[in-house]
Amino acid sequence: MNRPYVVLSCAMSLDGYLDSAAPRRLTMSNPADFDRVDQLRAESDAIMVGASTVRRDDPRLLVRSEERRLLRLAAGKTSSPLKVTVTGSGDLSPGSAFFTEGDVDKLVYCPHDVARDLARQLGSEATVIGLPGSVAMADIVCDLARRGVGRLMVEGGGHLHTQFLVEDLADELQLVVAPFFVGESRAPRFVEPGHFPWTARRRATLAETRPLGDVVLLRYALSERFEPVCAAASAQQRPAGS
Ligand SMILES: NC(=O)c1ccc[n+]([C@@H]2O[C@H](COP(=O)([O-])OP(=O)(O)OC[C@H]3O[C@@H](n4cnc5c(N)ncnc54)[C@H](OP(=O)(O)O)[C@@H]3O)[C@@H](O)[C@H]2O)c1
Repeated sequence: MNRPYVVLSCAMSLDGYLDSAAPRRLTMSNPADFDRVDQLRAESDAIMVGASTVRRDDPRLLVRSEERRLLRLAAGKTSSPLKVTVTGSGDLSPGSAFFTEGDVDKLVYCPHDVARDLARQLGSEATVIGLPGSVAMADIVCDLARRGVGRLMVEGGGHLHTQFLVEDLADELQLVVAPFFVGESRAPRFVEPGHFPWTARRRATLAETRPLGDVVLLRYALSERFEPVCAAASAQQRPAGS
């Protein structure tokens, strides 16, 4: 299968939650880690999140550092990567920052039967791609490869991470652990239950650990395509927010 290099990226609490159950998003990370994420974004051709994350967090999903945006432009790329999301319900607002922020293309994958209404709802804000049957991540990454995406960064949430892991479509996991507990059963977890390729008998390879202030980054190699040299590592030498 021709597919992009896929990096899963997220931050979780010590007890494995991505967020609390409260309406307001919980900040897991710190400025040094946000800067690492920004570098990872700048190195990617596309950034993907699930529709729940679009609805709940309203993320912009843009490269923040002007220096990194200029470097991308100098390389003939858009200032930020292509944005990608997936929905089964079609419940996405054209007013969300995912669609309104950034002069970059936005792709929405969904089942065939919701595609027409969703395309009408989103208008010129996005390209809606209807897929037959139930939407599989494998079909999405194949389509992204056809569109020229060589590196895909998946920024969550847990429902999306679970599918990429269970379908064995990820090359690398960058998991940040924040130094606190959430302790709420209704809060979203890093992953949902599933049959994962990595078990006690087939262990994933820990490629790197990196303290970033009060959080720690764990990098796992999940495929033979894993690229040990991570440009985001050198970015940590720069002050946060540069
Ligand atoms: N700490 C972090 O690093 C981090 C990062 C990102 C998100 N988060 C948090 O994670 C939470 C959201 O995570 P989540 O697991 O609930 O949701 P999610 O993964 O963001 O999105 C799930 C939604 O995506 C759509 N979807 C996913 N796979 C699909 C498929 N195969 N076919 C069709 N639609 C599909 C569905 O949308 P529809 O419902 O529209 O059908 C589904 O409900 C939020 O609280 C957010 O703050 C944390």
